[in-house]
Amino acid sequence: MRIHEGLERIAHENLISFHMPGHKKGRLVPDSLKEIYRHDITEIPGADNLHEATGIIRASQEALRDYYGSLKAYFLVNGSTSGLYAAIMATARPSETLIVSRESHRSIYSALMLGGINARYLYPEIDPVAGACQEVTLEKVREAFERYPEAKGLVLTSPTFLGILSPVKEIAAYLHGLDKVLIVDEAHGAHLKMMGQNHQSSIFAGADLVIHSLHKTLPVLTQGSALHLNSDRIDRERLEELLNIHQTSSPSYVLMDSMDEGLRIMEEEGQTLGRALMGHIRKFEAGLQGHPCLKLMTHPWRDLTRLVLINGEKATIDFNRLESVLRKEYGIQAEYSYDKGLVLITTIANTQGDFDGLMKALWEIDFSQLLNTGEYGTIKYIRPEKNLSLREAFYRDKQWIPLSKARGYTSARMIIPYPPGIPLIAPGEVFSSDIIERIHEMAGFNYNILGIKEEDHHHWVAVVKEEN
Ligand SMILES: Cc1ncc(COP(=O)(O)O)c(C=O)c1O
Repeated sequence: MRIHEGLERIAHENLISFHMPGHKKGRLVPDSLKEIYRHDITEIPGADNLHEATGIIRASQEALRDYYGSLKAYFLVNGSTSGLYAAIMATARPSETLIVSRESHRSIYSALMLGGINARYLYPEIDPVAGACQEVTLEKVREAFERYPEAKGLVLTSPTFLGILSPVKEIAAYLHGLDKVLIVDEAHGAHLKMMGQNHQSSIFAGADLVIHSLHKTLPVLTQGSALHLNSDRIDRERLEELLNIHQTSSPSYVLMDSMDEGLRIMEEEGQTLGRALMGHIRKFEAGLQGHPCLKLMTHPWRDLTRLVLINGEKATIDFNRLESVLRKEYGIQAEYSYDKGLVLITTIANTQGDFDGLMKALWEIDFSQLLNTGEYGTIKYIRPEKNLSLREAFYRDKQWIPLSKARGYTSARMIIPYPPGIPLIAPGEVFSSDIIERIHEMAGFNYNILGIKEEDHHHWVAVVKEEN
């Protein structure tokens, strides 16, 4: 019996609750929430325990494993973040080294910092037109491991936030030849199998540990995620202990139920819904042909569901304003706009009507009002110099100084445009003029930037306090 049936069975017992949670199956809360609260219980008999699953949670985790074809699957109730923490710390001990794509999500930097792990970065190329970080190539991986042969493994992200996939199969084969571990942050790719792109997914490609944010691209509640163990190169007990450490001791049954049901939808209707979504996307791609100002980003290796609108041949659009016109005048909210494009996340839950509404808007909008008059358009590839390790910088005393005066100082915090959540500068890296200019530029573009303060009309940053 899986989670959903197990929870239904308990709900039908109409138990008088003298157990957690405090709402006692949805009493006192508004009617609109009551249905959700029905399955919000705790580890009473019959409900199993995520941290040592032997019952309904285990059955659902086995179904998840079977669907993706991994060795073992674990539900995560603290997002992919917790899975990345566990995967990274199960692979390298304190002071050991991992090679990490510099275009990684902040959770990867946090894991390295918490684990005291030494990070050596590899830098994917950036496509100057779409401003998109490109795939991690086998060549770059080879160079990095020749330079740092002591590294225990590699952490890479595929697909990226903009949908670019890396050649995971080639990379996995190369690393396994050296007996190294491959961790893939596939937070944005849990749907690939359902979309007929399984051959480009990391579990299929043989990565050792793969992390999925089920909530990002499947019909699953926010935070619902999964970790797949896919080889015997990892100490399973250590991994499981780390999952226990990094996750709450009160896992939400509503969240686990939602993941179980998301899985069931994929099992039972995934192929049909995936084909329908591909139909909507193909029609959308055709409908956008000939647009005077916009086109879709292309790449030979990409997640087909992630649509990135970029400048057509002649225009330079202010995508920030495009995002706001779509919201205010057409009731459409995109995922994210940046200086080179607009990101739209499409899933099996989008209808043809959604795509039609978007297409109509894109042809109706007067783009002459949305031309970019600013100075954006100079995505420079910034490789900050590293002065201290992430952990050392994090634990040093810090001080706040104006961004304009930060050149030469070592950053004490991550400064992160969100989304996509990739740090422009990490603790231990040195502020250069390029970085300062880029942060100013992004702040001017209304990016939501975490890690800086705005006070007295200045931006302030935290730097490592200089020792006298
Ligand atoms: C590439 C990538 N990895 C990991 C994460 C963290 O995922 P979660 O929010 O599920 O913890 C994110 C979240 O935005 C992400 O974009």
